[in-house]
Formats: sequence, C-alpha cells, structure tokens
Amino acid sequence: MVETIQWIDDRVVMIDQTRLPLEETYVTCRTYQEVAEAIRAMIIRGAPAIGVAAAMGVALGVLHAPETGLDSEMETIAETLARTRPTAVNLFWGIDRMKRLYASLRGRPIAEIRRRMIEEALLVREEDIAINRAIGRNGAPLVPDHKTVLTHCNAGALATAGYGTALGVIRAAIEGGKQVDVFADETRPFLQGARLTVWELQKDGIPTTLITDSMAGHFMKSGRIGCVVVGADRIAANGDVANKVGTYSVAVLAHENGVPFFVAAPVSTLDLTLTSGDQIPIEQRSASEVTHVFGHQVAPAGTPVQNPAFDVTPARYVTAIVTERGVARAPYEESLKGLVRTPAG
Ligand code: MRU
Repeated sequence: MVETIQWIDDRVVMIDQTRLPLEETYVTCRTYQEVAEAIRAMIIRGAPAIGVAAAMGVALGVLHAPETGLDSEMETIAETLARTRPTAVNLFWGIDRMKRLYASLRGRPIAEIRRRMIEEALLVREEDIAINRAIGRNGAPLVPDHKTVLTHCNAGALATAGYGTALGVIRAAIEGGKQVDVFADETRPFLQGARLTVWELQKDGIPTTLITDSMAGHFMKSGRIGCVVVGADRIAANGDVANKVGTYSVAVLAHENGVPFFVAAPVSTLDLTLTSGDQIPIEQRSASEVTHVFGHQVAPAGTPVQNPAFDVTPARYVTAIVTERGVARAPYEESLKGLVRTPAG
C-alpha cells in the first residue's frame, strides 16, 4: 500500500506528490512550518490527506513549542496551517479537531498535552483509512459491472491516508468481484490524473486508460462509460460539490449522456454552514501552472492566465453522494443533514 503520510520519530514523512510518477521520494517535515509549506506546495494534496497533514502539523507544533506562551503559540500554529489552501474544508476540520482537544487539556502537564496531541493526529490518520473503506463498501454496489468508470483528478490513496474515496469505491467494486476498468482524466493543469491516479491504480493492477480532459464527452457519448466517480473538497448543505477544476464539465457531460455521476467523500468534507456552493472559496493558483508543463513553457511569455484550482458542480448534476455513513440523494438539504446526525459506525 502507498504510504501517503506517516508520523515517524516525531517527524511527518510524506511521499512527494510533485515528483510522482518519475521519482518516488519522501519529504520529512521537522516543524509545523514545513508541514504548512508542504501543503501549500502540494507535496501533499487531496482533501482528506490535507486534513491529516494539518492535524499532524498541529501536533508537531505543540511538540516543539515552549511551555510558556503555549496558548498563543497554538493560535499561531493553527493560523499558519489554515492559511495554506482555502477550498478543502478538511484542512480546517483537522485543525479545529486538534484545537478542541488542546482546549480540553488545559491545565494538564505539558508532557501529557504533547502526547495526547500526537495520539490524536495518529488517530485522525487511522480513522481516515477506515472511513475510506466504509465509503468503498457503500459505493461499490453503485458501480455497474463490466463497464468503465471515469474519474477526474486523484481521489485515491495519495489524496487520503490510504485506499481513497472515489478510487476506494472502484477498489471495493473490484474486490467484490466486479469487472471494472478505469478511464482517468489527465486533469490539467497539475496533472493529478495522469501522474497520480494512473500511478497508484497501475500499482494495484487495475486496468487504467489515460485520456485528456477534453475526451471525456466523446467516450460518454459512445456508451463506454458506466458511471463517473469523483472526490470532493467541500460539499455545501444543498449538495453543491467543489472539486478539482474540470469536474463541473464532466458532470454536465454525464447528465447530457445519461451517465450516473457519483461523488465519494467523508462526512468531514460536508460544510453545512454554507447554504450553497457559491459560498465556497475557490483557490487561485499561480499562472506558471498553466503557462508551463513540467518546467517547459507552452504559452507566449506574459500571456494573461486564470487558474482556479476548483470548480463547483451544482447538486442537480450529482446522482448521489457516497459517505462512510451512507449514500445521500436529492433533496440534499435533508439527506446530508440526516448523515451528519447519524452516529459514525
Ligand atoms: O488540488 P488538489 O490536488 O488538492 O485537489 C484534489 C481534488 O480535487 C480531489 O478530487 C479532492 O480533494 C478529493 S480527494 C479524496
């Protein structure tokens, strides 16, 4: 299994996703600032993985913080990590979970606070893998047998602590005996599909075909695609889904061609404080990700560029949202609220 993020000898070790698939190298973070920089630079990426990294970053920060002034240092740690990437709500969920534990430990000996914070971060990681397995179990029955599943970006083991959300559904369908192959959108501009999804599915021996983003409609129209499964970075109360830019186009094409469009995500990706996807902050990344491909310039120098990293798919295009607590369908205002109320298990 791919080890996306680990806690080893009081350091956070991550596979470097900016270098895959050409190099399998690992980055070691010794401070919370290094964890924050790794999230910003997308050495680690994918909503659940960012949540785990944030939790480990907070634990690392508390581990090295001086005992005096720990409360204000805790605020600085949380703010630094929160400023890295705005869209995936799992980042803020991970930080808030650690802050709540810290608040509950006030007055305890410093050694105990540090130990409990590290244990909590490790728990966040372990729970994420178990959650993904449950998402897989819930989603597998939705995947049609003897068909191709289209996915966009990377919502796999690399985007989580392990197994994946969208790719977890595909893995579970195959483990359950279904004959499924995968079409992976390359996912411009960062190429998470070409570099990461293809890499990790090949490692598992899952038949995977790479297509460019603009080919998705062609293959849906031909009847080849049985369903689409993608992950999510934030889901609003009305079921609107923020995910990697290009997801919206895929969803509209799926709707046009009568192909089911499934979103797989943990409950921690729900943000029921937002009534609609219009309120989800969309990260804008650097122009060079668009003008350059792996360091090679592909557009005239000085070309104006837009680079929103995510888009929002309206709920009306989403056939179902698969979580660890069950499958939600429209009307999402009710079904998502119901999932949040359901005890985990
Ligand atoms: O910019 P990224 O690579 O962090 O974007 C990742 C995605 O959009 C994923 O689809 C999403 O985070 C779900 S990951 C299980």
